[in-house]
Amino acid sequence: MSNEKLLRQIVVLKKKRRALILAHNYQRPEIQDIADFTGDSLELSIVASRAENPVIVFCGVKFMAETAAVLCPGKKVLLPVKDAGCALADMATAEALRKLKKKHPRAQTVAYVNTSAEVKAESDICCTSANAVKIVASLDPKRPVIFVSDRNLGAYAARKLRRKLILWDGFCPTHTLLVPADVRRAVKKHPGAKVMAHPECRFDVLESADYVGGTAGMLKYVKGDSGGRSYLVATEAGMIHRLKKENPGKNFYPVSDDLICPMMKLITLEDVRNALSGFQFRVTVNPSVRKKARRAITKMLSVR
Ligand code: 13P
Ligand code: SF4
Repeated sequence: MSNEKLLRQIVVLKKKRRALILAHNYQRPEIQDIADFTGDSLELSIVASRAENPVIVFCGVKFMAETAAVLCPGKKVLLPVKDAGCALADMATAEALRKLKKKHPRAQTVAYVNTSAEVKAESDICCTSANAVKIVASLDPKRPVIFVSDRNLGAYAARKLRRKLILWDGFCPTHTLLVPADVRRAVKKHPGAKVMAHPECRFDVLESADYVGGTAGMLKYVKGDSGGRSYLVATEAGMIHRLKKENPGKNFYPVSDDLICPMMKLITLEDVRNALSGFQFRVTVNPSVRKKARRAITKMLSVR
């Protein structure tokens, strides 16, 4: 079926279902273009928490749809591809976290949003790449801090705050692939371009960046950088679409062609149409887990 026909069907079904379509910045360009809102994981959870629509089609990965389901228990939150997961989130289990907490009984636990609802439920507060430093800074300085799941983001926050954190040994397979030699090669190819890196990258990659931040931070940095013309992007390739669309006079290049998260590329227009027509695939969270996970997420949202 042609994309035009699918788009027409999506418009009709979206109206019929009174649905809100959310897309993460890493989604395919055509998915970002049909979404009511495209953003980073923090923005998407805020938009989901305020939505009045009875149906939310979440074009992203499972932990993101789960976060929306935790925040909006009365709504139907749909993930158009059931198996769209996050390899980093899969590296932490609630059981292993409980064991670690037992070893550090005085510790406060920060869960990166890239974790399951069960892991969030075991944590005191959540954070995203956009607010990790601020969230860790908001904690009691006299007590130890466990940071789960991404070791690179945790180490970045620890360096910024000059504070020792107990880091979970998880990583994003896409971002961790990048090494300083990739950055050097890209800079040689595009001399003068500024380097923007996601804090899920290794520390030696972050060291060579002009800007370190999550996907929303990158957009803000580029918009505020009036003199800048060219940028090398050290995060998932989907981000380039939005950067180009919102900054037509500037140039954006991936630092490496390998920066692709296979899970973020699964959802197609056909899947969105099917999600809307068949209410699939509904993401739900067990009420006892939801209650505790919600506390950690809302605590994050309340930190100013
Ligand atoms: P953002 O929070 O920057 O959107 O990143 C989410 C993510 O999955 C990074 O790999
Ligand atoms: Fe997870 Fe990495 Fe994909 Fe982000 S890019 S969704 S952290 S696997």
